[in-house]
Order: sequence, then C-alpha cells, then structure tokens
Amino acid sequence: MLFKISPFLIDILRQRREKLSHLIDFPAILWSGCANSRNFPANLYPFRASSHFLYFAGFPLENAAIRLDQGRLELFMDDPPEGSALWHGEMPQRNQIAELIGADANYPLTDLSNFLKNAATIVVQNPITATEQRQLLNRSLTSAKVPEGIDLELTKAIITLRLTHDKEALNELKKAAKVTIEAHQAGMKATKMSQLEAHVRAAMEAVIISHNMTCSYNSIVTVNGEVLHNEHYHHSLQTGDLLLADVGAETPMGWAADITRTWPVSGTFSPTQRDIYQVVLNAHDQCINAMKPGIEYQDIHRIAATVITEGLVELGILKGNPEDLVNQDAHALFFPHGIGHLLGLDVHDMEDLGDLAGYELGRVRSERFGWCFLRLNRPLKPGMLVTIEPGFYQVPAIFNHPKNQEKYQKIVNWERLEQFADVRGIRIEDDVLVTETGTEILTQDLPTTIEEIEALVQS
Ligand code: GLY
Ligand code: MN
Repeated sequence: MLFKISPFLIDILRQRREKLSHLIDFPAILWSGCANSRNFPANLYPFRASSHFLYFAGFPLENAAIRLDQGRLELFMDDPPEGSALWHGEMPQRNQIAELIGADANYPLTDLSNFLKNAATIVVQNPITATEQRQLLNRSLTSAKVPEGIDLELTKAIITLRLTHDKEALNELKKAAKVTIEAHQAGMKATKMSQLEAHVRAAMEAVIISHNMTCSYNSIVTVNGEVLHNEHYHHSLQTGDLLLADVGAETPMGWAADITRTWPVSGTFSPTQRDIYQVVLNAHDQCINAMKPGIEYQDIHRIAATVITEGLVELGILKGNPEDLVNQDAHALFFPHGIGHLLGLDVHDMEDLGDLAGYELGRVRSERFGWCFLRLNRPLKPGMLVTIEPGFYQVPAIFNHPKNQEKYQKIVNWERLEQFADVRGIRIEDDVLVTETGTEILTQDLPTTIEEIEALVQS
C-alpha cells in the first residue's frame, strides 16, 4: 500500500531538511524504530515511528533510517522480504517509497554502515533499535536525554526546528484537534446511556478510530479524576459523579491533540461542583488571555496558581492572602501539576529529550512543591503550540503527607473542604497556538462553560 502524498508535503519536508542544514555542518542519521512484541514475537504492538524521524521523513516507515546531509535525504530500508505479501499484502519497494518522500538516494539497510562517518543521531525509545544504533555508531548513547558532542548539537538543532510549527504541521495538528473535539462531544452525549467509564471511553475512541486516527496517549476517562493518569475504566457511573475525560487523537502522520473536559454524569453540576469548576475555568481563561509572544510560560503557570488560590480563598477552603499562599506553594495542595506542555508530534512534545526541549537553555526544574512538575519553562514564541490545563484535585496522598500536614494544616479549612466531597478531580485542557499577536485556540469549538457542557451532556 502506498501513502498518498501532496507535492506540498514533499516541499515542506525539503524545507525542514534545508533549515536543518543551516544549523549543523555534519550529517544526521535518524532511525524510525520497529514494532515491539506484546506477548510473543509475532504478536506486535502497533508500530509508532520515532517523532524525529517522522519530522523529516514525513511517513511512518518501519525499520528504516534516513541520512540528512546538507539538505540531501538518503533512505535506508530493505525491500519487503519474500513471502511477506501473504501476511501483509503487496508492499511498495524501497525505490517507490524513496520517490514518494523525495529522497535523493536509497540503499538497503546494511549499506548504512558505509555512511556513518561523523554522523550524529538521537537515540530512539525502541530498545531494539537503540541497541542497533549503539552497535553501528560504536558509542554509548545512554539516552536521548543526555546527548553528548555532535549528538547534543543535533538535538539542539532539531529542538530549534520543532519548537515552532510550520504550515504542514499546523494542518495536521488542526485535523487531530477537530477529531478530538468530535470525540469529546460523543463522550458527553454517550454518558446518559452509559453505565461504566468504559462505555464512554468506547464512544470517544470510536470517533478517533473511525477517522483512521489513533489515540495520542492512553485515554483517561474516570470518575476518579484526582488520579492524574488513571488508566482504569471499570467504575460505574453514578448520579452525582463528575467524569473527567482526557482523550486525544493522533493523525496517521503522527501529529497529536490533547483535550480534557470534566462533566457531570447526571447532566447537571451540583452547586459545589459548579463553584470549583468555575474556579478552574477562570484559571483556564485567564491563562489563555495572558498568552502572547514573549511572555514566560512559568508566568502563565503562576497565573493559574493565583486564580485557583483566589477562588479557593473566596470559597473558604484556603485561609490567607492569595499571593502569600502562592508564595508558600499552597495552591499545589489542589493543583499539583504544571499548567501544560508543548504539543506536536508527541503529546508531550520532545519529552524523549528530557527537559532539553521544554526548558530554556540554562534553566533547570525547580524542586518546589507543584513547580517541580512544570514541563515547559520558556518564553512563548509565535508558532509554539502548548496545552493549558489547570485543575483541582482532592488527593488523599497529598493531604496526608506529613510534610504537607506540617506546613499547610492551618491554612486549609478542612471542615469547609468536606462540603466539596463530590469534587474529586476537575481539569479543563485546550491546545493553544501562539500567534504573532496573541493566540489561536485550536480546540476552541469544544465548549468549556458550565451551561454549554450541561447542554451537551443532556443532548
Ligand atoms: N494528556 C495527558 C497529559 O498531558 O499528561
Ligand atoms: Mn496535556
């Protein structure tokens, strides 16, 4: 099966290679990786190509490598083995693929050993391919998070390119956002006919699958929204529960979306749920309103922390002056994670590189409560796509932690908090593009207000 390709994409791929050639003066070899076995060799997880490979090759070619040198693209992969057509159908030959992606030359994989001189790489996540990379290049390549020498230079160059999105990337990211919006609408509408979290998940993922897309991460569809990365779907849905759904689509070319909404199973928020939802929504809106080129993402995080703290003080849950409370990190009792992350070919874009992409050169993660989970700490630039995802959670492990008990016991009105027992976890997440003048919310068409969410669940 041959992929369809537009001349526009070929041109964009060429432009990406050219831009890379202005940033480095040595060749780069990027491997795509291979599918991992599940429980026996022939039973495989779906293949996902390395995102750095995808960025320059455009297509999820399995067991392939590309060599980029001064704007040239050389493809290394084997023709399909004899007999494979029986199991996998007729597959294109290497030279057909090379033509399709605009490669200047193509070779079998074994020839790669003749092209390694002075070549840099980024070690892939797939352990089988990573071992091949180490053996071929004859260096340790510990992890993509700690590259050295020319590998570090290549990593920095690719970060420079991938931090802001070109037109083709934005086309793909908008497709993923559109399907994700549809999935969330389907989830809300399916809730009243659903008995289990799994039923809502199925309704949401059905939309993604029917568009021939995949999920860009494991879906979170849970009545225990306080469990940040909950991946269980067996709970029943009860009247009075809030359902938190963090579900995103990924296009066949690998570009991701990431949306979270929280809605009442019954179709109507309780008064306490409304109160807290509105606090989180205020934080979400104020963060997005403040975004523009030049502003620091950590300041956006601080806006979320401040708005949430002000709201909780107003509701009588926190005691004190909001600014002082934020300075003591008290917001992290209820909003322990960062305000968001980069989004692109990876849902946490380039997180295979640790903090090299997320953090401006010279900056390191804070050790402070809450701030330690901030995944992005850079000034915003036009073309950057980030998530904005404030939340409120009641996490017993955080409340009961001896350190927090000691530090925050007196600033929380625990009796008042008990009245909000039906609010376990709320998160509202959108995908926001930084533009020359401000922002464009790629996921804008999915509503966030209480009235609109209730109407969708009841519809
Ligand atoms: N959507 C999952 C996350 O951002 O971690
Ligand atoms: Mn996210």
